[in-house]
Amino acid sequence: MNRRYRKTIIAGNWKMNKTLTETKAFAEEFKPILGRPKWCDIVLCVPAVNLHSAIRMFKDSRVSIGAETCHYEENGAFTGEVSAQMLKDIGVKYVIIGHSERRQYYNETDFTVNKKVISALNAGLRPIVCVGESLEQRELGVTMDLITYQVKCALANIPIEKVRHVVFAYEPIWAIGTGKTATAEEAQEVCEGIRTVIRKLYGARVARAVTIQYGGSMNAKNAAELLAQPDIDGGLIGGASLKPDQFMQIINAANQD
Ligand code: 13P
Repeated sequence: MNRRYRKTIIAGNWKMNKTLTETKAFAEEFKPILGRPKWCDIVLCVPAVNLHSAIRMFKDSRVSIGAETCHYEENGAFTGEVSAQMLKDIGVKYVIIGHSERRQYYNETDFTVNKKVISALNAGLRPIVCVGESLEQRELGVTMDLITYQVKCALANIPIEKVRHVVFAYEPIWAIGTGKTATAEEAQEVCEGIRTVIRKLYGARVARAVTIQYGGSMNAKNAAELLAQPDIDGGLIGGASLKPDQFMQIINAANQD
C-alpha cells in the first residue's frame, strides 16, 4: 500500500453466490462490525439481481456496491445484458471487468474488456479490471508479457484524465479459489510491473495514483503480508468476502496505522 498517493480498496467479489435473503443476513451481521475504517474504501460486488437492494441495505455505511460485469453498449438488442448506464442509474459505483471466469466461460476478450472499460468510464463507474496468468503461462515464463498485453489492451483509447479512475486487480488464475496464494514477492513483482506499464503509457504521476489490487485466495491470514507490499493497494476477494467476520479481518489488515 502507499496511502499517500492512492486509495486502498478492499473489494469482495461474490460471484454467483447469495440470494437476496442471504444478502440481507450478511448486511445485518456486517454493518455493526464494520464501523468507519479510516484507511480504505470497501466495495461489495454482488449478483446483478441483488444490486438494487444491496445499495439500499448499505446506504448509510462505508460500503459501495459494485457489479460483476456489464455490457459495452449503452442499450440495444442484447438479450439478458445490463449496461453501465443502467448500473450507474441505480447507484452502482464499481464494475468488475474481465474477470478470468468471464474470460474463460463467456468469451470475454481483451477487446471486449477495452470496450467495457470505456463504457464504464463514460457512464461514471469505476472499472476493476482483472488481469492474470494461468499456471502454464507462469511456468513458460511469459507472465509479464501477458500482463503487459492485457493492461495495454484494457487501456487502449482511454484518455489520461480518466486513467486514475481505473482499478487493476492482479489475479493469477492458479490462485483463484484454490487456496494457493501467490507469495507476497510474486504478487508485488507483477503489481509493480502493472504500474510500470501504466507509467510508460501515461507518466509517473498517473501511475502512482492508480490502485492495484491482488486477488486469489486472499484471506485473514495472508492479507497483512500482501498489503504490506508497496504496489499492492488492496484486494479483490472471493471466498473470504462471503463471511462477514473473515472479510472484516481483511479490512482490519488494511487499516493498521
Ligand atoms: P478467491 O478469493 O475465492 O480465490 O477468488 C478470488 C477472485 O476471483 C476474486 O475476483
